[in-house]
Amino acid sequence: MNSLLQLLCFSLLLHVVIGADPLSHVCSASGNYAANSPYDTNLNQLETYLYYQTPWWGFAMGSVGSSPNQAYGLAQCRADISFADCQTCVAQARDNIGNFCPYNKGGIIWYDYCLLKFLDQNFFHQIDNQNKFYQSNSNEVSDPTTFDENVKELLSQLSQQASVHPKLFATGETDFNQSTKIYGLAQCTRDLTNPDCEQCLQEAINDLPSCCGGKQAGSVFTGSCNVRYAINPL
Ligand SMILES: *[C@@H]1O[C@H](CO)[C@@H](O)[C@H](O)[C@H]1NC(C)=O
Repeated sequence: MNSLLQLLCFSLLLHVVIGADPLSHVCSASGNYAANSPYDTNLNQLETYLYYQTPWWGFAMGSVGSSPNQAYGLAQCRADISFADCQTCVAQARDNIGNFCPYNKGGIIWYDYCLLKFLDQNFFHQIDNQNKFYQSNSNEVSDPTTFDENVKELLSQLSQQASVHPKLFATGETDFNQSTKIYGLAQCTRDLTNPDCEQCLQEAINDLPSCCGGKQAGSVFTGSCNVRYAINPL
């Protein structure tokens, strides 16, 4: 009985921890839909589909319904996480986007482990660099010029690797000095072609000096790709 109670408390705690805030979100400018409207039904179906499909390959995209009530969406997980972590993240994204963008016809929500994006128009196979945000660690490095060059070199290599990888994903590391490594990650949504992936990542890397120059960690997330680096494993 006691251990059952402990288990119950633990799973409640786990739920609270896992139900963490998203990194960011954007609500689309394409207007609202009404509760129980055809778009509502299509969107629900789409989100259910994405929830079940995404964990298998870390990515899923699809559309439900027909114009003008057609909903388009995709979901993607960080490519190196487990099936269960991916499913948990997509569930969170699905459950929370409605709180952040209630009845909005489109939106994007970003988590550390996944991204969910939907719209009432076909947005597939296009680089989305309009929707983006940055994150940086406030701690400065000791030698910013050399450090930033190392970051750029590492992430440029990872961008090339990611853009030809089946999952459009790469991670790697480089030695900065005797005691410090720089870890990097690059990933595109898998609706992009290889060259578009590389272009998306390159543009993200070009934003790093202004958001994150000289910082111990930084990342640029767009609607189609993200690059991250840190002096701790990512
Ligand atoms: C290595 O770089 C880090 C980050 O700038 C710095 O904190 C550390 O003191 C450096 N270590 C050495 C041995 O130079």
